[in-house]
Amino acid sequence: MTTILAIETSCDETSAAVVINGRKVVSCVVASQIQLHRQYGGVFPEMASREHMLAIAPVVREAMAKAGVQWSDLSAIATVNGPGLAGSLLVGVNFAKALAAAHNIPLLGINHMEGHIYANWLQYEGGPETDPAFPLVSLVVSGGHTDLILMEDHLQYRRLGGTIDDAAGEAFDKVARLMGLGYPGGPAIERWSAGGDGTAFDLPRALSVGAYDFSFSGLKTAVLRELQELQRQQGTEVPERGVKLADAGVQEPDPNLPIADLAASFQEALVDALVTKTLRALSDHSAVQLLVAGGVAANSRLRQELLARAQVPVRFPPIRYCTDNAAMMGAAAHYRYLAGHRATLALDVLPGLTLA
Ligand code: KG4
Ligand code: ZN
Repeated sequence: MTTILAIETSCDETSAAVVINGRKVVSCVVASQIQLHRQYGGVFPEMASREHMLAIAPVVREAMAKAGVQWSDLSAIATVNGPGLAGSLLVGVNFAKALAAAHNIPLLGINHMEGHIYANWLQYEGGPETDPAFPLVSLVVSGGHTDLILMEDHLQYRRLGGTIDDAAGEAFDKVARLMGLGYPGGPAIERWSAGGDGTAFDLPRALSVGAYDFSFSGLKTAVLRELQELQRQQGTEVPERGVKLADAGVQEPDPNLPIADLAASFQEALVDALVTKTLRALSDHSAVQLLVAGGVAANSRLRQELLARAQVPVRFPPIRYCTDNAAMMGAAAHYRYLAGHRATLALDVLPGLTLA
């Protein structure tokens, strides 16, 4: 049995969790900086590290208190050491090192992306009773990554493909910004799409890039062109208004434009590209399971389409474990611990760390 304290500070959430056997979350505390960064239309790295520094001690203390465990109960302390923002990662890594050294507890370094995948091992009310089965394909879709990963066993990651330009979450955020929907863009676009017609605009899917690859920059540009065309037809604005809106950080959609239809059409095109390539990866590699992970896995249209079109069981973490949190790091840490991995106090932050 393992009891692991996990820490996550790679972007704009300061989080600590205590997880038993990589599955049972006994506590998970998340301090989000979203309100702070919203005014800048995205994450402001310098401010993120400062906020982590202020939040880390109370967040860890609360996670330990809620779990009701003592330092001597812990098998290991796990911390994310990449990928992510260097200044943000440093806070969690240094805090974990200090705790591990002070209490003489083994230290583990976790890859942020493997944490997202392992969120699918966490137990929750109403969730599946069994662990995911191998070989599996994981579609990892977050603000910084879009990857199709093949796993034949625990901790074995083979990258089949991924985005050649923007990440899926990044595309949601950028397009939302163009339309004046605010940050983060994913949830905003999902909300607006609910009242729109996803077939109203015919937007590109870029399916001809590599077999398991994605490209979203053309889709983003197509949305911008549609916006400019709509504005031109209305004679309300100069042609580059979309760009100027974004630069000004304006967070109000133009009430005269069919924003809901455009948001829904964008979401439809992006989801279709993700689902098409994921299905291909599943069948080409005879996978018996699909795991979806990362912030964009919260998207209900993506969930719906994958469930409808995949021939194998599909799993998504509950929404609270899709976006950044330490519980999922505790799940990955359990398997690293069992495999004998141990980090030393020389553990470094690796902002560009990859999975495979
Ligand atoms: O995994 P995550 O919390 O942080 C990173 O590791 O990047 O993912 C954040 C991303 C953001 O781009 C956000 O817009 C997107 O996930 N996101 C969504 C939804 N909720 C969050 N995208 C689409 N639909 C959603 N419901
Ligand atoms: Zn993440």
